[in-house]
Amino acid sequence: MNELLDLATRAAASAADLLVQGWDQREVVATKSSQTDIVTQMDQGSEALLVSTILAERPDDAILGEEGSSRSGTTGVSWVIDPLDGTVNYLYGFPSWAVSVGVLIDDRPMVGVVHAPALATVWRGIADDFAEANGRPIRCGGVTEVSAALVATGFGYDPAVRAVQGVQVAALLPQIRDIRRAGAAAVDMCWVAQGVVDAYFERGTHLWDRAAAMAICSGAGARVGGLLGEEPASNAMTVAANPALFEALRATLQEVGVGRD
Ligand code: IPD
Repeated sequence: MNELLDLATRAAASAADLLVQGWDQREVVATKSSQTDIVTQMDQGSEALLVSTILAERPDDAILGEEGSSRSGTTGVSWVIDPLDGTVNYLYGFPSWAVSVGVLIDDRPMVGVVHAPALATVWRGIADDFAEANGRPIRCGGVTEVSAALVATGFGYDPAVRAVQGVQVAALLPQIRDIRRAGAAAVDMCWVAQGVVDAYFERGTHLWDRAAAMAICSGAGARVGGLLGEEPASNAMTVAANPALFEALRATLQEVGVGRD
């Protein structure tokens, strides 16, 4: 596991360097699910670098990447990579963006590195074992009351989904301390692991947004799941929080209709 973590760390660091060096030349080269769901040439360059770095040392592993890399493997080890989580933030120079490298062993996120150069932070972790930020151990926060919880969330790119999410967040807001929407799911989840926010929820993420951060959350003692009674986290819903808050938050999310159309 430590060897996988070491490779994930080096791969994420090279891709992060590429993104920092290329920031002046960033430009949108394509849109995906909607006009606001963008790809820059830097997302593509970062993914190519991650894939070549990983395959040079682990040629028989599987890879799944946000920008289309997909190959099966024979080892039971899968690399799930988001070459640039928070692409819109990167485009604008809003600092919450990161390279996210997760390793699944037999489909479970076990190893994660989230490297966020503009936040000067590298989160790393191994599920059920440890998590750290810039080499220092981290733990999730201890807030137990939903009414005291600082909750991060994200919104989908589809305008119709956003309209529903807006109504649901409006219903949630009076029940919690406050909402944060910083624009990079992997960073939001690492902030749960570090106690920078108490919880995170989002409908419509993909495995590459959350795989690395799930391992880091687990290493920091945070729980990650889906809607009330649904495990594990899925594209339909991801909820992350400290274990003492987790069930109460999921009940509140259900009450206000989060996750329903
Ligand atoms: C997006 C960001 C955003 C979240 C979206 C993700 P991308 O990732 O993490 O915060 O709300 O669900 O798709 O597109 O910038 O890699």
